[in-house]
Amino acid sequence: MIRKFGLENDIQYVLLTEEQIQTRVREMGEQISREYAGKNPLLVCVLRGAVPFYADLCRNISDYMEMDFMAVSSYNDGMSSHGMVRFKKDLDTSIENRHVIIVEDIMDSGKTLNHLTRLLGTRNPASLKIACLLDKPSRRECEITPDYCGFVVPNEFVVGYGLDYAGTYRNLPYIGVLKPEVYSDVE
Ligand code: PRP
Repeated sequence: MIRKFGLENDIQYVLLTEEQIQTRVREMGEQISREYAGKNPLLVCVLRGAVPFYADLCRNISDYMEMDFMAVSSYNDGMSSHGMVRFKKDLDTSIENRHVIIVEDIMDSGKTLNHLTRLLGTRNPASLKIACLLDKPSRRECEITPDYCGFVVPNEFVVGYGLDYAGTYRNLPYIGVLKPEVYSDVE
């Protein structure tokens, strides 16, 4: 059982407040609106962690755009130490000749987005970029960086605003660092 202290009490400290997140997401939306003016970009939400960021980012884009959703799972191919991703839910939209922005909550090792950009790149999009709320460059195992990044964060166990631990904490409106006793000692 992971719910040891009550939702808010499981948080050691708040890393990014709701206000900081909303201000930054507004800036990112304004930048994307400027850079994609007249291009009708397709914003791709990678389920599930990206959902709150995606919803807020899209509402801060002030020009034509479209939405689509995908779900992926990581697996090891048994041949190398690099994880692969496979689609659990593919896009419903053809991305050929479309300007595509993949929206993610966090880039950690970079493996998920590395594989995702390769896979989607084979479908001949007009352009393909990545928007990530959080970037943890200290954990990177691939040569990849987000094109749009909300915040660079330290290597801490962060939860909230879509990020989970064992499925929980995604509904917090801020991003916090989880108390170690919540994820250690789990029965
Ligand atoms: C998280 C996150 C990215 C991935 C980043 O997804 O949303 O997809 O991990 O890690 P990486 O850079 O090391 O590949 P997760 O598998 O936890 O699924 P979720 O979105 O449903 O939380």
